[in-house]
Amino acid sequence: MSQRTASASPPATVRVDLGERSYDVLIGTGLLEGAAELIHGRLGAARCAVVTDENVARHHLAPLEQGLAALGRHAGTVVLPPGEATKSFASLARVCERLLDMGLERGGLVVALGGGVIGDLAGLAASLVRRGVRLVQVPTTLLAQVDSSVGGKTGINTPQGKNLVGTFHQPSLVLADLDVLRTLPPRQFSNGYVEAAKFGLLGDAAFFGWLERNWQAVAAQEAQAMRHLLATSVAGKAAIVARDETETGDRMLLNLGHTFGHALEAWAGYSDRLLHGEAVAIGICLAFELSRELGLVDEASVRRVTAHLASAGLPTRIADVPGSPSPDAAALMAIMGQDKKVRDGRLTFILVRGIGAAFVSRDVEAAAVQDFLVRRIAGRT
Ligand SMILES: NC(=O)c1ccc[n+]([C@@H]2O[C@H](COP(=O)([O-])OP(=O)(O)OC[C@H]3O[C@@H](n4cnc5c(N)ncnc54)[C@H](O)[C@@H]3O)[C@@H](O)[C@H]2O)c1
Repeated sequence: MSQRTASASPPATVRVDLGERSYDVLIGTGLLEGAAELIHGRLGAARCAVVTDENVARHHLAPLEQGLAALGRHAGTVVLPPGEATKSFASLARVCERLLDMGLERGGLVVALGGGVIGDLAGLAASLVRRGVRLVQVPTTLLAQVDSSVGGKTGINTPQGKNLVGTFHQPSLVLADLDVLRTLPPRQFSNGYVEAAKFGLLGDAAFFGWLERNWQAVAAQEAQAMRHLLATSVAGKAAIVARDETETGDRMLLNLGHTFGHALEAWAGYSDRLLHGEAVAIGICLAFELSRELGLVDEASVRRVTAHLASAGLPTRIADVPGSPSPDAAALMAIMGQDKKVRDGRLTFILVRGIGAAFVSRDVEAAAVQDFLVRRIAGRT
């Protein structure tokens, strides 16, 4: 069982402003135990189907199920195997059929209790079953709390690539309980930290400075530091999503480090060899280095970013990918060519003019990127 904080202070609330699809993200402690009341107090008395994975179920399912059962609103629970492979058509079919077997009606709710894998999969199922039922995200990884549970992107992976099948389906409520992170393996915590750092690097230099000064308090999960980290990251994401819900403009900034990162992740076979956040950490450093080569950002900023991510225990170079063989430039370019960020045959990159000053660029030549990667992999600048 997770450790619980004895006296929970009131949660911080970040509003995601999307007109009639607006919703709150509550950030605090003790939220899981009170989840059933919170859900019903805010969203009405609906039957709730819980979707989770085996690891999360072991630590955190009981208080949620008990709360829902006490209100007579627990429709059932689907427990899936943990891991990226669960974001598949087969799991999607299984979840949808189970939701229908439970008799979930249009007014029902899907509660996604888990990391980004469960959030993305359950979110997709919720958007499809009965042409859409409401969704509550209860993110249990740092990555899901700072990023994936907010903004409404759902998805599964196919042999053609990651997240290529999905929908936009905003949750009706997000409950980010800091207590649940205490059972998270340290490597998974670092994995999520990258996405928080990303918010500073793409648009909030003051937040990145705060992270440089406070990352050790964050790593120790000190409550005040964690609240600040989450509230700032979620507010950053909420502002971008409110400006560009369906990623036709500004929302692409959230992909800082992801073009290179996704290629590395795919190359490593979406395995424990390289987690998503670790791949993005390397991708962010590469995006800063490519920006420096293009004369957009100074060397000092590149060093600052790399030093911070390295001090937080994250990989920062392609050479840091463990095991062999090492990635090669041609293979990475081929994967990037499949990436959905390609438009009219050109690669879209998020580049930077400084810390906190990212922008979308569609005019980086593929040949220049390949040359850059060849030199990076060979250890030449
Ligand atoms: N929708 C979006 O906007 C968005 C944004 C970023 C990432 N994503 C997606 O998120 C996914 C990655 O999410 P993730 O990093 O949360 O991975 P994950 O969901 O696989 O969780 C990582 C591991 O931690 C375990 N776990 C989860 N919570 C735990 C807890 N509290 N205690 C102990 N173990 C726990 C899980 O069982 C799993 O083994 C990727 O598929 C990525 O594409 C989506």
